[in-house]
Amino acid sequence: MAKIALITGANRGLGFETARRLARAGVKTIIGARDPAKGERAADALRDQGLDVESVPLDVDSASSVRAAAEHVEARHGRLDILVNNAGILPEATAETDEPVDPEMFRRTFETNVFGVVSVIHEVLPLLRESDSGRIVNVTSTMGSLADQGDPSSPYYELGVPAYRTSKLALNGITVALAKLLEDTPIKVNSVCPGSVQTDLAPGNREAAALTPEAGSRIVVEMALISGDGPTGRFVDRRGAVAW
Ligand SMILES: NC(=O)c1ccc[n+]([C@@H]2O[C@H](COP(=O)([O-])OP(=O)(O)OC[C@H]3O[C@@H](n4cnc5c(N)ncnc54)[C@H](OP(=O)(O)O)[C@@H]3O)[C@@H](O)[C@H]2O)c1
Repeated sequence: MAKIALITGANRGLGFETARRLARAGVKTIIGARDPAKGERAADALRDQGLDVESVPLDVDSASSVRAAAEHVEARHGRLDILVNNAGILPEATAETDEPVDPEMFRRTFETNVFGVVSVIHEVLPLLRESDSGRIVNVTSTMGSLADQGDPSSPYYELGVPAYRTSKLALNGITVALAKLLEDTPIKVNSVCPGSVQTDLAPGNREAAALTPEAGSRIVVEMALISGDGPTGRFVDRRGAVAW
C-alpha cells in the first residue's frame, strides 16, 4: 500500500521538489498550497511526469483552511503517513525598517513558521496515528540554531533576521517536545535544515544560495522516509547532526 504524504507550501521552491522526490519514491503525495490554482498547477506539472500527486488548498495561517485540508485527507485516504511542515516565510528580508525588535514582524513570522505548524499538526495528528509509521518533518534552519548564532565562523553570523531565527528556534523546540510526547507511538518527529537553497524565500537568494531545490530536498525526503529504527527528536542537515 502506497504511503500518503502531505507537504505544506509545496506549490514552489523546496516544497515542490520535496513533492517530486517523494512521489518518485512511490509515495502518494498531496501538495498543500494556499492558492488552490497554484497548487493544482504544481500537481499537474508532476502528474505530467507520471507521478501520483494531488493538491489541497491549505493556508497554514487559517485555522478553517487547515481543518478543511485535514478533512479532505481523511475523506480521501483515511490516514496520513508523512507530514512535511515546509511552508515558511522570511518577511524581514523585505522589511523597510531596520528596527531590530519589531513586534509586528515577530507576530507575522511566528504566525506562519510556528503557529501554522502547530495548527497543521493539531489537525492531522489523528490521521498520523492511523498510520503504522507516521513521520513529521519540520523544515527549520541552521539559522535557528543557538550554537550557530554564537559561532563567528558560521556563514550566517552577520545575518540579523531575529524573528526568522527565533521562529525556527521555536520550531526546533516543538520537534523535541513532540518527539518526547509521541515516543511510545510509531510517530517520529525531526527537524531538518535543507541547506542554503536557491528559492525565492528572500530577494537574491536564488542567485546567492549554494544548492538547487532538488538537492536541498534530498535530506527532507530522507527523514520523511526513515525506517522504524530511525531517530526521533533530532535536528539534521545533509552532513549529519546540527547543534541546537
Ligand atoms: N531556501 C533556503 O535557503 C532555506 C534554508 C533553510 C530553511 N528553509 C525553509 O524551507 C522552507 C521552504 O522555503 P523555500 O526556500 O522553498 O521558500 P519559498 O520558495 O518562498 O516557498 C515558500 C512556500 O511556503 C508557502 N507559504 C508561505 N506562507 C504560507 C501559508 N501561510 N500557508 C501555506 N503556504 C505558505 C509559499 O506559498 P506561496 O507560493 O503562496 O507564497 C511557498 O509555497 C521554509 O520553511 C524555509 O524557512 C529554506
